[in-house]
Amino acid sequence: MVALGQQLLRKKPIILQRRHHEGEELPRRLGTFQLMMFGVGATVGTGIFFVLNEAIPVAGPAVILSFILAAFTAGLSALCYSELAAAIPVSGSSYSYTYHSLGEGVAVIVGGCVVLEYGIATSAVAVGWSGYFNELLHNVFGFQLPTALSISAIPGSDGAATGGVINLPAVVLVLLCMLLLIRGASESATVNAIMVCVKLSVLLLFVIIGFTAFNADHFSHFFAMGATGVSTAAGTIFFSFIGLDAVSTASEEAKNPQKSIPRAIIGALLIVTAIYILVALAGLSAKPVSWFSSPGAGEAGLAKILEEVTGTSIWATVLAAGAVISVFSVTLVILYGQTRILFSVARDGLIPHRFLSVNPKTLTPVFNTVVVSVIVAIIAGIVPADYLWDSVSFGTLVAFAMVAISVIVLRRRMPNLERPFKVPGYPVVPILTVVACIYVLFSLKPVTWAICGVWLALVFAGYLVYGRKHATLNTYTSDEEIAEPIRELEDQ
Ligand code: ALA
Repeated sequence: MVALGQQLLRKKPIILQRRHHEGEELPRRLGTFQLMMFGVGATVGTGIFFVLNEAIPVAGPAVILSFILAAFTAGLSALCYSELAAAIPVSGSSYSYTYHSLGEGVAVIVGGCVVLEYGIATSAVAVGWSGYFNELLHNVFGFQLPTALSISAIPGSDGAATGGVINLPAVVLVLLCMLLLIRGASESATVNAIMVCVKLSVLLLFVIIGFTAFNADHFSHFFAMGATGVSTAAGTIFFSFIGLDAVSTASEEAKNPQKSIPRAIIGALLIVTAIYILVALAGLSAKPVSWFSSPGAGEAGLAKILEEVTGTSIWATVLAAGAVISVFSVTLVILYGQTRILFSVARDGLIPHRFLSVNPKTLTPVFNTVVVSVIVAIIAGIVPADYLWDSVSFGTLVAFAMVAISVIVLRRRMPNLERPFKVPGYPVVPILTVVACIYVLFSLKPVTWAICGVWLALVFAGYLVYGRKHATLNTYTSDEEIAEPIRELEDQ
């Protein structure tokens, strides 16, 4: 066996990524529009429905600039993902890019982070969805599920007893997404596209109603809170822009990934930015800055504004229904992303081969989808969301930073690699991405670092016990066997 140090540093030649074997391929059925809807579906979730109450008191009317700043920051990493997804169109996303650029050891760690970014995020989003769903039941039918069936038994970070047993709606949501994903990627993409249209329509409805109450005075003293207010609010708003990278996990199912993936990521970023800015403008049209931090604003977010502008709760209920649909599609897309990344990890031999088997009828990785969904559903049913979100941020930031570093490393190591899309403003864009990610990473709580550190240690231990012995690269016994395809590629 290869020495551990050597094995951790070895990189997977990109050309090997193109050699798939029968039964290990996913059908290419997704077009640019469906992929773009994946990006919007994974990104427009809970954030925009609630973020104005937090961001407007901090930035004032200049919150519009905060949205642009947050979009710019999210755009930096979206561009990095676009370059790599077009050059290496595989479903492993950040995990695969690091395997090619930084080696097996870093890829294993990034693989662990991706489970936080996608798997744990799915559980957290499902727990949030359960809360909105219960609220909607209450608004529409006047009843709610009992606490025992809608909240987990484990106390949240405040330590108070919950009176709950299991978060049943969260479990059911994950299992519904599982059934859809098993049916087919294309079917899931269609359902997602419908849900995206519904959520965008609901947000546009908010925009139209908000503008009917337009009051120019609400925009006076535009820059009253200064640059610090704008950047602090942008930090809060950034959460609402997370999700665009999920498009890259569909690279192996995209019809023309070299073109469609960058277009879909950038298109989704533009759609999301436009709708968010319109929502912020409409919110400010309808209510003055001071209202957003007043007790009257409550915690209902956009729904409360609609209720006050129209004088009826009907539109607010429609908006709440929109939020329920919105979060459903986030859950669907990120659960999909998790299964596809594990598909790539299995192809590399680092987890059992079963995760790679594609059902001949549905053409989806059924075993993989069931195992991932059941684990995600159990976590959603018993763990409170506040324990989960910080770990999601940790995993996401590490993955974003590693993708940006991979752009730089691959540009230097393989300057001739075909890059159908190139990050503009290289190397400033990837460097800025890394700096921004590290800055936010260090603002996370020590306990988050500790939990994620233990998780990554477990992942690494799993690699030492299983992955190290079964890695597909082990089958390339001589250096020459690996060197040959690399030369082929570099000579291109
Ligand atoms: N961008 C996602 C949301 O706003 C995480 O819910």
